[in-house]
Amino acid sequence: MAMTDTSPHAARYPAGAQAFPHRDLLGIGQLERHEILFLLDEAEQWVELNRQRTKHVDALAGLTIINAFFENSTRTLLSFEIAGKRLGADVVNMHAAQSSVKKGETLIDTAITLNAMRADAIVIRHGSSGATGLIADKVDCPVLNAGDGQHEHPTQALLDALALRHALRERGETANDFTGLTVVICGDILHSRVARSNLLCLQALGATVRLCAPPALMPAGIEAMGAEVFHDFDAALDGADVVMMLRLQTERMSGQFIPSAREYHHLYGLTKTRLAGAKDDTLVMHPGPMNRGVEIDSEVADMIDRSIITRQVEMGVAIRMACLDVLTRRARGVAGWGDAA
Ligand code: NCD
Repeated sequence: MAMTDTSPHAARYPAGAQAFPHRDLLGIGQLERHEILFLLDEAEQWVELNRQRTKHVDALAGLTIINAFFENSTRTLLSFEIAGKRLGADVVNMHAAQSSVKKGETLIDTAITLNAMRADAIVIRHGSSGATGLIADKVDCPVLNAGDGQHEHPTQALLDALALRHALRERGETANDFTGLTVVICGDILHSRVARSNLLCLQALGATVRLCAPPALMPAGIEAMGAEVFHDFDAALDGADVVMMLRLQTERMSGQFIPSAREYHHLYGLTKTRLAGAKDDTLVMHPGPMNRGVEIDSEVADMIDRSIITRQVEMGVAIRMACLDVLTRRARGVAGWGDAA
């Protein structure tokens, strides 16, 4: 039986499936600005639900979601699992370390196996850029990219945008987007899918994005994506409204990219003194996991009035609920979202 579209913001978007016409969520690069705003607005109802004592609905009852993680994760895996369960779905986690991947099974064969089990959505994290797109081509259900190599991490960028929107609203700002805002992303830009997805997402929402890294950790030609490139962190921070710090992704580095962690901290670590050179109310973000004392000092990470790092984690569950809900609407026969598959 078809259910009605209960979207609280339905009037602001094209009707039904036109609001989000994609089967998969593979990257921010595939999304229009209004589609990003649609997912953010959809997530608001889940932020509310997650703050209640009983955090459960039956919207996805009877559906099976498989989280296939080929790379380590704490926040992303847990929050996708919690998101699926709070929506009433059956959630199964596949850890590559315990799977047949270790026995030499190809990614495609793993995808075909997951598909044969009739998953209703597959969430994938993989070390290779483009792996999630490859799997999406082989399966019949929606695929959500939970991070593919150095390419994209779309739900991270969406949750960052939602956390930022909430923090700005608490300061009395009413804008729905980030027009006029300057955001610095500092750290290992070269290896970071978070940086790429955030650059695309923040720009789509109107922000000016400054990328800051040592030359060896800045992708060549990134200016072509509209970013302002800095190698001097203090210069990048000047006048910035938000600073997002990134970890050194040593697991993706072959060879020496920085002289030493100490030297790196000296030039690119966010210290209290350095933050004082930005604005009085510059917000601090970090996707986690943090390496305290390297890219960020504890006294900055834990600043109650400036750091929104735990807020980012909170918003992660709500965003993943929104994505799972929206992407399974067709299969659930939600009115206006197409026939049940
Ligand atoms: C990020 C990732 O895995 O890309 N973490 C996350 O999802 N919260 C960033 C990182 O690993 O440094």
